[in-house]
Amino acid sequence: MSHVRLAEIIQKRHAVIGVVGLGYVGLPLIRAFTAAGFRCMGFDVDQTKVDKLRAGESYIKHIDSAAIGQLIREKKLEPTADMSRLSEPDCIIICVPTPLNESRDPDLSYIEGTAHSIAKTLRKGQLIVLESTTHPTTTRVNVWPVLEATGLKCGADYFLAFSPEREDPGNPTFHAATIPKVVGGFDEKSGDLACAMYSHAVVNVVRASSMEVAEACKILENTYRAVNIALVNELKILYDKLGIDVWEVIEAAKTKPFGFQPFYPGPGLGGHCIPIDPFYLTWLARKHGEQTRFIELAGEINTHMPHYVVGRLAEFLNDQRKPINGSKVAILGVAYKKDIDDPRESPSFELLRLLRERGAELSYNDPHVPTLPRMRHYPDLPAMHSQALTADYLEAQDCVLIATDHSAYDYDFIVEHSRLVVDTRNATKAVKCGRQNIRKA
Ligand SMILES: NC(=O)c1ccc[n+]([C@@H]2O[C@H](COP(=O)([O-])OP(=O)(O)OC[C@H]3O[C@@H](n4cnc5c(N)ncnc54)[C@H](O)[C@@H]3O)[C@@H](O)[C@H]2O)c1
Repeated sequence: MSHVRLAEIIQKRHAVIGVVGLGYVGLPLIRAFTAAGFRCMGFDVDQTKVDKLRAGESYIKHIDSAAIGQLIREKKLEPTADMSRLSEPDCIIICVPTPLNESRDPDLSYIEGTAHSIAKTLRKGQLIVLESTTHPTTTRVNVWPVLEATGLKCGADYFLAFSPEREDPGNPTFHAATIPKVVGGFDEKSGDLACAMYSHAVVNVVRASSMEVAEACKILENTYRAVNIALVNELKILYDKLGIDVWEVIEAAKTKPFGFQPFYPGPGLGGHCIPIDPFYLTWLARKHGEQTRFIELAGEINTHMPHYVVGRLAEFLNDQRKPINGSKVAILGVAYKKDIDDPRESPSFELLRLLRERGAELSYNDPHVPTLPRMRHYPDLPAMHSQALTADYLEAQDCVLIATDHSAYDYDFIVEHSRLVVDTRNATKAVKCGRQNIRKA
């Protein structure tokens, strides 16, 4: 199939879209393409996920099970763990994980594994787009040679592009279809085809001159967040010493109509992206004999935040003549940010670890995370279940530590029934009664 034919079926929305990796990114993307009238195939190595989707069940809180069920019944989505069927879709979008390995270097094994799976069945007229967040040159260095080894030629037989995913789970304003998409092609034809495909499903497609520009763009976006969050985290510590509330300062500063964008401090960074992606660039910089000092410094400051919070919590308990050792501490929120069910890289795990080390009697509540999942880096944390947030439960605690500012929380109720609330998110800002029991950290 020539690129003309592929362009034609994309134009008519007859092209089948295959999404590899049905996680927080892949599933919303399928929703955007099916909503645009395309038939989708979903590929994942996790058979449990495939089975759930086939049964019309979503495993991601903000993706509705009923909507998945309807897509399955109407045959608009076919989930499968059978990678030999990668020959069937006309366009394949890769959304697999890009974590760091034990030595905090990029782990590209998921991307490379997927490239090998695609290569096994690669046929003429397929478009392959990598969406996983990664450092510039990955598509050209780690994907293209694997596909090229099949003997097919990129730009003539098959087509290749990179388009970073900007999904923001839990964001009520933006979702996959309403977030502009940056696209960089291996060559002109690949770029044209990828832009044409996305233009049906997303609000705006921004053409980059190369795959590398598109790759670098995503890392810039995430580094920008990591650095700015580190800045306000550092200022939080200083301003607190000066008796100035950093959140009030940010509210005041953001009234400037230009040149300032607000970022907010917290107990540390979390999630699959901001604490990880900038270090892909650091690794690449090292390879080129360069440094990424902003990234390293931001990492240092953000990693220190849980230690700062626990230090402050110890001082607040001390004011009440209590040591951490033996005190009952309830953590509110183990998801890495508000209103989502994703605990990956959440600073709450580090808070739990530090408090446990100091002898606190720990429990937690999170309306979105009923059971504390096992985390690779925290093998010693005991199995825990989210506790009901009753008046009795709160009154039994020596300290309630707000780590994630979920909207579902009734902060008036929490403050009313707690002896000491340590608030790392300024979640209690609107609470009127009982403010003498609130401490910010
Ligand atoms: N979660 C976010 O908010 C977000 C936002 C923007 C970008 N990203 C990036 O998108 C990518 C995917 O992230 P995610 O949060 O969706 O991850 P995820 O862990 O939720 O989903 C990834 C899925 O890929 C599957 N998978 C792993 N290896 C596979 C293989 N070889 N073949 C097929 N499936 C495979 C896993 O089973 C999993 O279901 C990452 O690069 C991430 O950095 C994530």
